Amino acid sequence: MRSILLLLLAALGAGSAAADVIAVIGTGRVGSALGTEFAELGHTIVYGSRDPSTAAVNELVDRTAGDARATTQAEAVKGADVVILAVPGMLAGDITKNLGDLSGKIIIDPTNPLNFANDKIRHGVDTSNGEIIQAVAADAYVVKAFNVLSWQYMIDPGSSGGPISIPLAGNDPDAKAKVAELVSSLDLHPIDVGPIDHSRWLEGMAVLLIHNNFGPLPAFNLHLREIE
Ligand SMILES: NC(=O)c1ccc[n+]([C@@H]2O[C@H](COP(=O)([O-])OP(=O)(O)OC[C@H]3O[C@@H](n4cnc5c(N)ncnc54)[C@H](OP(=O)(O)O)[C@@H]3O)[C@@H](O)[C@H]2O)c1
Repeated sequence: MRSILLLLLAALGAGSAAADVIAVIGTGRVGSALGTEFAELGHTIVYGSRDPSTAAVNELVDRTAGDARATTQAEAVKGADVVILAVPGMLAGDITKNLGDLSGKIIIDPTNPLNFANDKIRHGVDTSNGEIIQAVAADAYVVKAFNVLSWQYMIDPGSSGGPISIPLAGNDPDAKAKVAELVSSLDLHPIDVGPIDHSRWLEGMAVLLIHNNFGPLPAFNLHLREIE
């Protein structure tokens, strides 16, 4: 459906103005889902991988539309407008440190720092990854987004059976507006929930989402309705 829309926009001469270079750091489930979906919408995807030469990364690049390519994590962010940090949550701060200069870039943070012990899922940091990443990349614009949604619905939101909200937390209104546009383009519903330190509550929501996903309680997606 999105491909058809994209072809239609291209035929009308529209769509290219909003195209970004998006560095997707991490080529796992979330990186693959968001990379392939944003590529279909006309954005140029540069995957950042610990080993960009593996068969799995090559296969991902092959199935990503446009001029997608893969390189190292630090190389991928150079020249990117937007960086998506699709990496293990407990390592996100350290991985960000190793990316080099992120000044002026929008960083989308879908990560959840989780500890799994004694059959319990726990939020694994004192503050939040959103705050940790913003502190590491002080001159970048960090927006917490996509952390309370399983990767399958990033690819196929319609399979959820109803609207899905993506809460956004960040300190910069322009960066949040830009991320809201990107979220909307995936047929998801963005909702601004305040500054980056509210990431801790969003990361707490992810604990609940994952807890219920493993049953027996009902799995859920978020749908937050704005009051008119
Ligand atoms: N899975 C979901 O449905 C979901 C939903 C919302 C949010 N999240 C959050 O999003 C983040 C990514 O989740 P995921 O499910 O995509 O994880 P994943 O499938 O394990 O992928 C993470 C990727 O990060 C890279 N990576 C792994 N170890 C690394 C290290 N030591 N240093 C640097 N890079 C490393 C790897 O890519 P390379 O091999 O290419 O380096 C790996 O494929 C997590 O924080 C998770 O909590 C997940």
